[in-house]
Amino acid sequence: MPPTTGLTTATSAADAVVSPHTTTAGRLSLQCEPIAADTTAIRSLDWDRSRFDIEFGLRNGTTYNSFLVRGERTALIDTSHLKFAATWLPLLEGQIDPKQIDHLIVSHTEPDHSGLIGHLLEANPDIEIVASKVAIQFLENQVHRPFRSRAVKSGEALDLGVNPSSGTAHRFEFLSAPNLHWPDTIFSFDHGTGILYTCDAFGLHYCSDDLFDVDPGAIAPDFRFYYDCLMGPNARSVLQAMKRMDALPPITTIAVGHGPLLRHHLSLWTADYRDWSTGRSKGEAYAAVCYLSQYGFCDRISQAIARGIGKAEAQVQLVDLRATDPQELAALVGEAAAVVVPTWPAAADAELQASIGTLLAALQPKQWVACYDAFGGNDEPIDQVAARLRSLGQRDAFTPLRIRQVPDAADYQRCEEAGTDLGQLLTREKAIAAMKALDGELDKALGRLSGGLYVVTARQGEGEGMRSSAMVASWVSQASFDPPGITVAVAKDRAIEALMQVGDRFVLNILRDDNHQPLLRHFLRRFPPGADRFAGVSVLEGVAAGGPVLGDALAFLGCRVAQRMEGPDHWIIYAEVEQGNVADATAATAVHHRKVGNHY
Ligand SMILES: Cc1cc2nc3c(=O)[nH]c(=O)nc-3n(C[C@H](O)[C@H](O)[C@H](O)COP(=O)(O)O)c2cc1C
Repeated sequence: MPPTTGLTTATSAADAVVSPHTTTAGRLSLQCEPIAADTTAIRSLDWDRSRFDIEFGLRNGTTYNSFLVRGERTALIDTSHLKFAATWLPLLEGQIDPKQIDHLIVSHTEPDHSGLIGHLLEANPDIEIVASKVAIQFLENQVHRPFRSRAVKSGEALDLGVNPSSGTAHRFEFLSAPNLHWPDTIFSFDHGTGILYTCDAFGLHYCSDDLFDVDPGAIAPDFRFYYDCLMGPNARSVLQAMKRMDALPPITTIAVGHGPLLRHHLSLWTADYRDWSTGRSKGEAYAAVCYLSQYGFCDRISQAIARGIGKAEAQVQLVDLRATDPQELAALVGEAAAVVVPTWPAAADAELQASIGTLLAALQPKQWVACYDAFGGNDEPIDQVAARLRSLGQRDAFTPLRIRQVPDAADYQRCEEAGTDLGQLLTREKAIAAMKALDGELDKALGRLSGGLYVVTARQGEGEGMRSSAMVASWVSQASFDPPGITVAVAKDRAIEALMQVGDRFVLNILRDDNHQPLLRHFLRRFPPGADRFAGVSVLEGVAAGGPVLGDALAFLGCRVAQRMEGPDHWIIYAEVEQGNVADATAATAVHHRKVGNHY
């Protein structure tokens, strides 16, 4: 097949999309489309990747995107997930003989983008891998065979030369983007097309046939959720990378590694990243959440804890113990208000031992500390790690997070809730000050607003990985007739917030005025992370709603989240009501009257 040379002469329709096929890993398909002169996107569409992984929040699957750029020489940017082994390479071979690919640019080494590097090296052992120095080190452990490599850093370039057919000169400029979201990340900017390849940054887990961001409303919730999980904990690094992006010539497209490519609403997405990251890096007290890349389940667990901390509007910084240099590590740990540490391998190599030594030496007496099981197979016992963290009298932010098995959704929920508890420790004073800040008269007037009394409940998944939660609510209102809809204002740091993403189902239990007190007392208790909030409460069996229906409630509404509007401290959740039932037509709804507006 002749090489792809431009927008019009690229792939034939027959090549463009490989029809979906179902494997044990779910429905998979491939999409191959030209996106600019001499540039082809090969997207691996993983329709069913579930929300089991913490950041796959909205159940819209995901994609792993790679790109082929042909100048005088050819470069491939990233590969795909191992689960595409049977189809991705044949599709690539339909585009180009792999032996003709001169360079493989590895944006970072996370397996969902680098899973087929071994296969590619088999097809072309001479390909030169272009990546950051750290990425090349990681790859040496990942791909057990020698390969040619070139380490690059910010400002360095890779010149592919001029494509003879289009006349376009393709020259890549690299930008270091550490921590977005792995320490080894680089962005690549093609001066010939104005496309910036960012891999995880600006991405989203959203699987559809749309190659570009044609429907921003549809993808915005996933874009935000992904940011909160993966990028928010590295907000300072986001701003640093964006400063480097500002120095580039105009960017026409951000070719992300997950989801649709960003072209039609670029300024919207970049403004979001800038605003969110600025808000999260105001130099206040932060928690340093340490992890070990490529070790056990550190990456995912640290993300869950970090997301929980972020929910409490506290600053958080993810710190890779393997890739952060000693001086920076000592500073990040020493200046943190809280330090969270994973269990590390009992037989750590000398470099890692040195890092751990640096970490322990940098701890300060007044810090909050906490630890979690990395579940890496042969870790130091968690109680010993916890004891070493407390050696200078530091206080535990939460009880050690023990993980006894491959972590499931319930474990991630527990980690997120522990993170929120920690975040609340850091923002407690600020929250109290904000409550006191209301002007007296305004406060009293606001207090004359009243509502009903409800318990919102949600449950997802089954068996061991089941997640459930509940909260007392009074900021609830009907919001539409047709279809029937309600709004619930949910504080950003509520545990149940994680179960109220767009598409999720929940139940609004409407309490009775003659028996609501015991239920309020029960659900207003402070529950430890991951606790079963329904133990000891009467729950109706066999009602297929999105959450437990309380036996003592007056009525319930089964709802599905349609939209989330972000307020300063609450998410305004608009949900369509799908089902409802009243248990006792003679009883009245419990009503909540207040005196002041700075409490519920
Ligand atoms: C009368 C009353 C009404 C409340 N209404 C709401 C509400 O509408 N939204 C909300 O986010 N929290 C509300 N809360 C606070 C939470 O219900 C409560 O703090 C929560 O159960 C704690 O859960 P968490 O561990 O998830 O933070 C209310 C509390 C009370 C006492």
